[in-house]
Amino acid sequence: MSDAIKVGFVPLSSAARGILIVFCDDTLKVGAATAKALGGAAELVKRAAAAASFKGKTGAALDILAPEGLKTERLIVIGTGKASSLKANDFLKFGGMAASKLKAGTVAMTIMAELTTGAMTSEQAVAIASGLRLRAYKFDRYKTKKKDGEEGAVRADVSLAVGDVAAAKKAFASAGAVVDGVIIARDLVNEPPNVLFPEEFARRASQLRKLGVKIEVLDVKAMQKLGMGALLGVGQGSARPSRTVIMRWDGGKKGEAPVAFVGKGVCFDTGGISIKPAGSMEDMKGDMGGAACVVGLMHALAARKAKVNVVGAIGLVENMPDGNAQRPGDIVTSMSGQTIEIINTDAEGRLVLADVLWYVAKKTKPKFMVDLATLTGAIVVALGVDHAGMFSNNDELAERLLAAGIESGEKVWRLPLGPEYDKLIDSQFADMKNTGGRHGGSITAAQFLQRFVDGTPWAHLDIAGTAMGTPKTDINQSWGSGYGVRLLDRLVADHYERK
Ligand code: BES
Ligand code: MN
Ligand code: ZN
Repeated sequence: MSDAIKVGFVPLSSAARGILIVFCDDTLKVGAATAKALGGAAELVKRAAAAASFKGKTGAALDILAPEGLKTERLIVIGTGKASSLKANDFLKFGGMAASKLKAGTVAMTIMAELTTGAMTSEQAVAIASGLRLRAYKFDRYKTKKKDGEEGAVRADVSLAVGDVAAAKKAFASAGAVVDGVIIARDLVNEPPNVLFPEEFARRASQLRKLGVKIEVLDVKAMQKLGMGALLGVGQGSARPSRTVIMRWDGGKKGEAPVAFVGKGVCFDTGGISIKPAGSMEDMKGDMGGAACVVGLMHALAARKAKVNVVGAIGLVENMPDGNAQRPGDIVTSMSGQTIEIINTDAEGRLVLADVLWYVAKKTKPKFMVDLATLTGAIVVALGVDHAGMFSNNDELAERLLAAGIESGEKVWRLPLGPEYDKLIDSQFADMKNTGGRHGGSITAAQFLQRFVDGTPWAHLDIAGTAMGTPKTDINQSWGSGYGVRLLDRLVADHYERK
C-alpha cells in the first residue's frame, strides 16, 4: 500500500507552493481569496478557459503550465458546476482529480478550499483530503520489480488552504479514520486467496482490538456447538477451517441496542461440487467483499470513536470441491433449526449468512441488521456496477440507505421482496432449498436470507457488482473498491449516533 500523501492545513490567505488547485463555478466565478491568489493571472484563466472550451462544469478541469503572473509551476482550475448542488462525494472526487495530477517524486501542492460562496465547510475541505488519499491507493504488495519506465511512488506534500484551520484539523482526524477503513477493505479484497483464508482473515479482523473493539472468534467446534450447520456445510470441503468473527464497538449508551452489520466472507468461491467454469474464477478471491467492508467499517467507527453501539459479524469460509465437500441433495440444519436442501453448492453465500444473521439477531437483539454480500451474478446483470442491489423489510431503513448512497456516491437501488418470490425456495424435502431457479435470482437469494432475520429490521446489499472489478474512478484505481464503508459510515453518522 502506498499512502505517501502528507496533508497539512493553512489559512486561505497563505502563499501557494508547487501546483496550485482552485475551484470555479459554471459561470467561471471564483471565491474572493482565490481571486486574490490568482491576481493578474485571472485574465490568463479566462483566455485559457475560452481556448479549451472549459465551462466550469463539475468534474471538468483546466490545466495551465507555468502560468504567467504566478509563482506556482502549474495552475489547475477545477469546475464545481452549481455550488449549491454539490454532494459530499463531489468533494472526494475533487481530491481524486487533484491526486491524479501528482507525479512520482516529491511534489508540493496547494489546494484552495473555497467555493464562489466562500470558504468550504471543514467537512467539504477535508473530503478533498480524503479523495487525495483514496485516489493514491495502490495495491502493489506483491510486485517485486518495477517495469521499465514505471515510476516510483507518488510522494506529495499537500497544503489545503481552508477557512478554519483548527476545525479542519479536527474533521480530518475523523475523515482519515474512514479513509483508513476503506483502504483496509480494499486491501482485504485485493489479497490473494492463498494468503487470505478464513483463519488469516480472522487474525486481521482481530487487529481491531488495538482500537478498543471487542473481538470474539468462533472456531469450528464453537460453531458446531451453536448448530451452525449451514455455514459449516459450505466450509467442510476446504482444508482451511471456517471461522465466524463477532466485533463489538461500544461507543454509545450503556445497554442501548446496537446496530449490526453482517458480511459474507467466502475467501474463495470455486462453486464447490457445482464447480464454476475456469474463466475469471480468480475473481472469486473477492467473494469476501462483504466481510471486508464490515471490518473496514468497524475500523472507521472505532477509530473515529463513533458514539454508537455497533456489532460487526462476518462468516468466513472457503468453498472447495473435495471428497468431504457437501453435495447437491444434502440437507443441512441451520442454527435457526430450519432445514435446507442443497440444490447448488455454488449458492453458498446465503448459507453462510443464514447462520450469521440468525446468530446476530438472537444474541445481540440489534436495532437493525444490514448485511453485505457478493451474493449473485444476477445482480450484476440487473444493475451493472454502479448500484448495489438493496432488499429490505423496513421502509425507513431502506430510505435512509438510499439517501446515504446518494450523498456518499456508493449508491443502492431497491428491489422487491414478496410471498410470490418466497415460495420459489420451498423444497419438497426440507424447509427450503438454496436456489430458486432461473427467474429473479437476486430476489430469491434475498428471500432466503429473510427467513433468517427473525423479524429484525434488516436490509441486504448485494454488492457482487460494486465490490470489485469496477471501472477506475476519480477516487479508486484499484480492483477492490472498498464499497460500502463510506455508505454505512454515513448511515450511522446521520441517524444513529448520540449527538
Ligand atoms: N459469489 C457468487 C456470486 C458472484 C458472481 C459474485 C460474480 C461476484 C461476481 C455466488 O456465490 C454465486 O456463485 N452465485 C450463483 C448463485 C446460483 C448458483 C443460484 C450465481 O450468481 O450464479
Ligand atoms: Mn458461489
Ligand atoms: Zn459466492
